[in-house]
This record gives sequence, structure tokens and C-alpha cells, in this order.
Amino acid sequence: MASPALTFGRRLCWRPLCEIRRAPAVCIPTVHLHVTAATMQVSQKDFEKAQEQLKHLKKDPGNETKLKLYALFKQATEGPCNAPKPGMMDFVKKAKWDAWNSLGNLSQDDARQKYAELVSSLVSAEPAVQKEEASPEEGRHDGYETIIVTTKNNITKIMFNRPDKKNAINHKMYREIIRALQEAGKDDSTIAVITGNGDYYSSGNDLNNFTNVQPSEMKKMAEDGAVLLKEFVGVFIDFPKPLIAVVNGPAVGIPVTVLGLCDVIYASDRATFHTPFSQLGQSPEGCSSYLFPKIMGFAKANEFLLFNKKLTAAEACAQGLVTEVFPDSTFQKEVWARLEAYANLPKNSLAVSKQLLRSVEKEKLYAVNSEECEVLKERWLSDECINAIVNFFQKKAKL
Ligand code: COA
Repeated sequence: MASPALTFGRRLCWRPLCEIRRAPAVCIPTVHLHVTAATMQVSQKDFEKAQEQLKHLKKDPGNETKLKLYALFKQATEGPCNAPKPGMMDFVKKAKWDAWNSLGNLSQDDARQKYAELVSSLVSAEPAVQKEEASPEEGRHDGYETIIVTTKNNITKIMFNRPDKKNAINHKMYREIIRALQEAGKDDSTIAVITGNGDYYSSGNDLNNFTNVQPSEMKKMAEDGAVLLKEFVGVFIDFPKPLIAVVNGPAVGIPVTVLGLCDVIYASDRATFHTPFSQLGQSPEGCSSYLFPKIMGFAKANEFLLFNKKLTAAEACAQGLVTEVFPDSTFQKEVWARLEAYANLPKNSLAVSKQLLRSVEKEKLYAVNSEECEVLKERWLSDECINAIVNFFQKKAKL
């Protein structure tokens, strides 16, 4: 994963968009040798119209696009970037500066034009109707924003629901998953299922959690993050009934490491499994440092946990991390038919059997969880980790 530790910053992108929305009227530059006054007028009018249209977008265009809009707006209104380069730690300002600076000497007219074209493409891509989100779903639990929780046919399903962010897990989502698991452990369902909405199972810790962290706040944030992570992993360790992961697509980081604490893992053949901890200057969590070598042997676990090797679903199955792989085209149908049959088995028998299987190791797992969180707390404060996050946002800022 990485850290819920640094889950305090605002999203990278909201400020650029707000700035764009609040931007004052734009001055038309006085000298433009290569355009006529008429084309200038059209360009300026389109530019202003685009600013107005942007206010009414329903769908969040995403960080990358917001950075482009920010950069083009600045270029159009102020010309090439000559602001001083922000410091390394100021991720948001740095990403914005990089985006603006990357436009080089693009003329203000061209920037206006490109800005208008980009907004126009966003307007045409708006969905005609909003997602089925609001439609009432049988057995749906209220009070969740980042996940969908339902109980039906003796199964409580917890579905990660940030598909446009590849189900990246932000601070709120960690807390909602903890609450949903605690409630599912106590409700009348026979089994619980975790899955993802959209094309990803989950891309792991939301790296936006790391933005806007002032150096003076880093220590406290790492401490708070370690507490949250320990609690998150703890609910998996303590989960009292069978917990099934239905891995519908790629999985990265923390959603992979806690698979060792799930009881059965079914995967689509589109799923991949990746724990890029060293790439991010971090270290394993979710009790994977203990369970993965037990599951797949040290030789394979080391390649996976130390050297960022991405596994296909078939490889993960061959190494014992995944129970069974299904063709994506029939995945949902086959898996849910099977789960519904499981959920008709005697509930108490399943619960006590699971406790027997897991209770032998519980104390060990608590200790491993604590140790992993301690190590991560230090990792989150390391230059290696900070540089890796900066690199992620730098790549995103490139136009
Ligand atoms: N944290 C923050 N944002 C994430 C994210 C994550 N873990 N995973 C995906 N997103 C966001 C992207 O920033 C993008 O947002 P935008 O639309 O505002 O620009 C959106 O989700 C779609 O992702 P995108 O990167 O455009 O899709 P992709 O198919 O090209 O790549 C990933 C998908 C998952 C490979 C890529 O997003 C990624 O590498 N994410 C980081 C994964 C990671 O390191 N997780 C931590 C593990 S320890």
C-alpha cells in the first residue's frame, strides 16, 4: 500500500479548477502580429465561453486534465511561466508549475484556443445521464460514500466504488471499509465478499493522500497513518466469518497484501497482482511479510514483495495466493453462482470452522501487523518515499 498516513492533504486538483473558475476577466494582449482582430475576438469569446462551460461540468475531469486546464489558463492570461520553481515538498504547487512551464513559449492566442478546445472535448464527453448510482438497490446499506455495501441472499458484499480513480483507497474509504467489515462481522449474513466496481479491483493507497503535507506535519501524519493502517489490517485479522475476495481486475498494494487474510480468492483472468513497495520507497503491510512467504515460499514472495514483480492471475493462482481464476467473460456469473451456494451452508458451522483455521495464528498476526506499521511509519518519512511520490505526480503533470 502505502500510507493512509498521509491521507490529510487535499486532492491535487481542486485548486487549479477553482482558480480557473474564479479567474478574473482576461486581458487581450495588445500586439498580435499573426492574427487579425476578428480571429482574436472569436478566440477571446470562445475562451470566455469555455470558462463558463467549465463551471457546469458534472463529471470531474481528473487531475491530469485539471493541470492542463490550469496551465493553459495561466499561459493564455499571463504568458509563459516565469514564476519561481516551488520546493520539492510542495507537491501541488510543483505539479502546477511543471504543467505551466511545460507550455514553453506557446502564444497566448494558441493557449486560449487549446483551452477552449479542451473544455469543448470535456463537455462532449459528459455522460447523458448520471450513473445508476442513485437507483435503490435491494439490501443496500446507507451511509457509505466510497464503497457500496449490500446484504442479499446471506451475503454481505463490500464493493470499492471509486471506479474513475481505479478504486484508489483514500482516507475516508479506509474508514468506511473498517466500518463495513465490523458491521458485516456482526450481521446475519453467512459470508462476506469484497470486490471492486469498474475495471480495477483497486489501485491501492490513494497517492493524493500524500499531497499538501507540510514538513512540520509529516511526523504526526505518519503516526496517525500507522494507527489507521493497523486498525484496517486488524479488522481483516479479526473477521469472524468467511471472507471472500472477488478480484475483478488489477490490484495494487494494500488490497493485494490483505488477500493473505481473506479465506478464498477468486480472480478474473484480467486481474494482476502488484506490490510496488520498494519502487515507492515503502515496505510490506497487511501481514504479507509473514503470510506471503508461507503461502508462496520465500523464493517467490521475495521477488513479489522486494522486487515489484507483477503477477498475472494465473501466476498468483499457481503460487497459492489465488484460489481459482475464471475467464473474465463469465467471471461474475460463475463466481456469484458459487458464492450463493456457499452462503446456503450452515452459518455457524462455517464461522466456527473459520475461527479454528485462523485462531492458531492470531497473536502472531497482531504482532506482525504492529511491526509492519512501525516500519512503514519510518518509511513514510524517508526521502526515498517522498521522492517516489513526487515522481508519480511529476509524470502526471507532463502534458
Ligand atoms: N492514487 C491516486 N490516484 C490514482 C491511483 C492511486 N493509487 N490510482 C489511480 N489513480 C487516479 C489517476 O491519478 C487518475 O486520476 P485523474 O483522472 O485525476 O488523472 C485516475 O485514477 C485514472 O488512473 P490513470 O493513471 O489515468 O489510469 P491508468 O490505467 O493509466 O493507470 C494505474 C492505472 C493504477 C497503473 C496508475 O494510476 C498507477 O500507477 N497508480 C498508482 C498505483 C500505486 O502506486 N498505488 C500504491 C500502491 S503501494
